[in-house]
Amino acid sequence: MSGEIRVNGYSERWLGQGFPWVYPKEVVGKKPKVGQKVKIRSASGKVLGMGVGDVGFLAARVFRHDDGPLDRAWLWERLDRAQQLRDVVVEPETDGFRLVHGENDGLPGLRVDWWGHYAVVILDSPAVSFLLRDLVAWLEERRNPRGVYLCYRPDPRDERNAKNFSPKPGLIAGNAPVGPVRVTERGMAIRVLPADGPDVGLYADMREVRAWMEPFWGGRSVLNTFAYTGAFSVAAALGGACEVVTVDLSEKYLDRAEDNFVANELDVSPHEFLALDTFKALDRFRRQKRSFDVVVLDPPSFSHSDVGMWSAQKDYPRLVAASARVMEPGGWLIAASNKGDVSPREFTGWILSGLKKAGRDAQLLRAMGQASDFPALASFPEGRYLKVQIWRVL
Ligand SMILES: C[S@@+](CC[C@H](N)C(=O)[O-])C[C@H]1O[C@@H](n2cnc3c(N)ncnc32)[C@H](O)[C@@H]1O
Repeated sequence: MSGEIRVNGYSERWLGQGFPWVYPKEVVGKKPKVGQKVKIRSASGKVLGMGVGDVGFLAARVFRHDDGPLDRAWLWERLDRAQQLRDVVVEPETDGFRLVHGENDGLPGLRVDWWGHYAVVILDSPAVSFLLRDLVAWLEERRNPRGVYLCYRPDPRDERNAKNFSPKPGLIAGNAPVGPVRVTERGMAIRVLPADGPDVGLYADMREVRAWMEPFWGGRSVLNTFAYTGAFSVAAALGGACEVVTVDLSEKYLDRAEDNFVANELDVSPHEFLALDTFKALDRFRRQKRSFDVVVLDPPSFSHSDVGMWSAQKDYPRLVAASARVMEPGGWLIAASNKGDVSPREFTGWILSGLKKAGRDAQLLRAMGQASDFPALASFPEGRYLKVQIWRVL
């Protein structure tokens, strides 16, 4: 059943610029129900858009900024527009990428990743599940997937328990793959598990960073921390790095990193895989007086380990300092943060404060962001989440 909501002047201004969210405190009067399609009006009655109601940190997600229908023709037009971008920016040798990037593709709360022949649909909330039927039909018509998976990734501000979300996550069309799916990123093979939802085993948003680094790995020793399934390690080894040390807390991810070396026919014997907290590893290397030509830092925003809780906000400068202490003069530091609420300027501040702590000067070689299949909509500042800086540490 569709309905109407009214919003205050603050929301009216933002929606007028194309912003896709209405917060609960911006709704004047009755709040919409979860999943209810609503026409959004200003306090004076002007139509501001069409959206769907939700609970939690958002009251409504706004899919269009006129009063047109949220029907199949509209959805397919948005999906075709998203596909057209990927046809241009995703290289032919890449078949693991983001096909639909939520708000930034005009589809708030809906992400779709493409992994070889499989699609993974990631919803921020069950409120947007009304899109599923027509989305699956579009995928079948345009991309012929072998299987389509559904999973949820609620915003951390949304405190609802995703375990109770309906429809249930899992395979929603086609068949499950037998074992891992081999995808390629610019020719590099990575094995992913589409059933694992948002964390299938490759963060494609870093692809352009790996591409930029490609000519520079040769003959260098590389330390890849917070390595996950080792995409940076494999890229470095394929690029001719003489030694790659891959560090992650999780044995399971390290096994997968080693598998990814094997998938690329790389000899693992010159390389090392260390299941250890990054700070402990850095401290061990410092005591051993062991140093590297390239260090990769791509930590999560938060994590727990036996040495305590890691928080990027609090610990990044200390992480940079500890890394600088195990870097050769002229070594390269690749530092990343996917914390959306941190500006590039603030991120630079963390790095500079760490370098200062370690008594090292540095030159900024490159500042990058997420790959172009993760576009950022002009009217949605939250879309520019990934910051990557490459520094030459003197
Ligand atoms: C954001 S992912 C890294 C993505 C990776 N750089 C890539 O491009 O594929 C974060 C990883 O950090 C690991 N991790 C979390 N806390 C850690 C810690 N204290 N020390 C080492 N690894 C940690 C997690 O197991 C996870 O694999």
